[in-house]
Amino acid sequence: MSFEIIPNVYSVGVKHPELTKFDIVVPTPGTTYNSYLVVGEKIALIDTVGDKFFPEFIENIKSIIDPSKIDYIITQHSEPDHSGSLKQLLKVAPNAVVLLSKPGSMFIRQQLNEEFPHRIVADQETLDLGGKTLRFITAPFLHWADVLFTYIEEDQVLFSCDAFATHYPEWDQLKTPLEPDFSLYYQAIMSPFAPYIQKAVAKVIDLPIKIIGPSHGPILTDHPKDYVLRYKEMSQPKEVSPYVVVAYASAYGYTKSLANSIIDELSPHIEVKVFDIENDVRSEIVESINNAKAVLFGSPTFNQDAIEPIWFLMASLSAIINRGKVAAAFGSYGWSGEAVELMSQRLKGLKFNVLPGVRAQFSPTVEDLANAQELARLVLAKIKPSES
Ligand code: FEO
Repeated sequence: MSFEIIPNVYSVGVKHPELTKFDIVVPTPGTTYNSYLVVGEKIALIDTVGDKFFPEFIENIKSIIDPSKIDYIITQHSEPDHSGSLKQLLKVAPNAVVLLSKPGSMFIRQQLNEEFPHRIVADQETLDLGGKTLRFITAPFLHWADVLFTYIEEDQVLFSCDAFATHYPEWDQLKTPLEPDFSLYYQAIMSPFAPYIQKAVAKVIDLPIKIIGPSHGPILTDHPKDYVLRYKEMSQPKEVSPYVVVAYASAYGYTKSLANSIIDELSPHIEVKVFDIENDVRSEIVESINNAKAVLFGSPTFNQDAIEPIWFLMASLSAIINRGKVAAAFGSYGWSGEAVELMSQRLKGLKFNVLPGVRAQFSPTVEDLANAQELARLVLAKIKPSES
C-alpha cells in the first residue's frame, strides 16, 4: 500500500503485523517498515524495507513512479530492516546513487558484498531535488553507529529513522494511541544511547517541524514536536543522590552472609540499594544500576556456573551507560566455585571497572567475611576517594 502524505511525498513502506519480537528479543504488537518517496525534479527514496518484503515494496513504488527513475536512495541506517531490499532495488533502479553516512557506507558494503554507486553525505549537507531541498542531519548511535535524519526544508518534514518511532502496525497516528508503545520502544531500543539522543535532539529541537516520518509505526502529524520533547525529557541525566547497588541471590544463606558484610561496611558511608535478583523486577534493578556509583553482584555457583537470573540481568545491562562503573562479584560455592570469575569476566566484557571478587566455600568464615568487608572498603575508595 502506498499513499500521499503531502504533495509529492509518499509512504511506500510495508506493514508487518505478525511480528511479535523485534531484533529477536523486544516484544512488539507488530510493526511497519517505513520508506518514503520524495518527488521533485529528481526523485529520492528514503530507506528500503527488509528483503522478504521486496515484492510488496516494489509494487508500492511502482504505483507512484517507474523505479528506474529513482535518482537517489537515501540509506539513513544500515540495519537490514531498512536496508535489506537495497540490493534488489538497485537492480531495478540502475541510475540511483545511494546517499549515506561514512559508517553506513562500510556497513552497507559488508551487506551487499559488492561495490555500489554511493556518496557519503555530511552533517547539514543539502541536496536540491528541484522543488524539494533535503538537509541531512547526522544522528549517530540512535541506535546504531550510522544514522541520518533527512529534513525537507520547504515542507518542514523530518524523516527521523528509528528515532521517534513506535513498533505498531499502523501509519495513521490518529488511529491508535501511541502509548504505551512509544515509551516502550524508547526504553527497549533508545534508552542505552541517552547521551547521543541529547545531541540529536539538540540538532532538531529548533527546526520548524510539521510532520515526523519515523522508520517504524505511525507518521507523526499531530503535534510532532511533542515527541522530540519526550525524547529530550526521557534522555535527561537523572539527578540522584549517590548510592551503591548490591544485587544477589542466595540459596542457603551463605552468599547472603557475604552480601550482608558488604552492605554493613558500605552503609555508614553511602546509601545501599539491595535487590533480590530472583524476585525483584529486572527493569527496576537495571534502572537502579544505570544510576548507581558502583554495583556488586552476588551468586552462588551451581553446576559450575552462576545462576540463570544473574545472566538475564547482565544481558539487560548497557555497556554504553555503565562503561567504567565500579563493579565486583561475590558468592559462595560448594566445591568448584566458578561463578565469581565468570561474573567478573562478563562485567569486564560490559566495560565495567571490575575489582577482584570474593568467594567463600560453603558458609563464609571470619576471614571470608573480612574479605567481603575489604571489598566494600575498596569500592568506597574507588567511588569516594576523598573520604577514604
Ligand atoms: Fe529499525 Fe535500527 O532498525
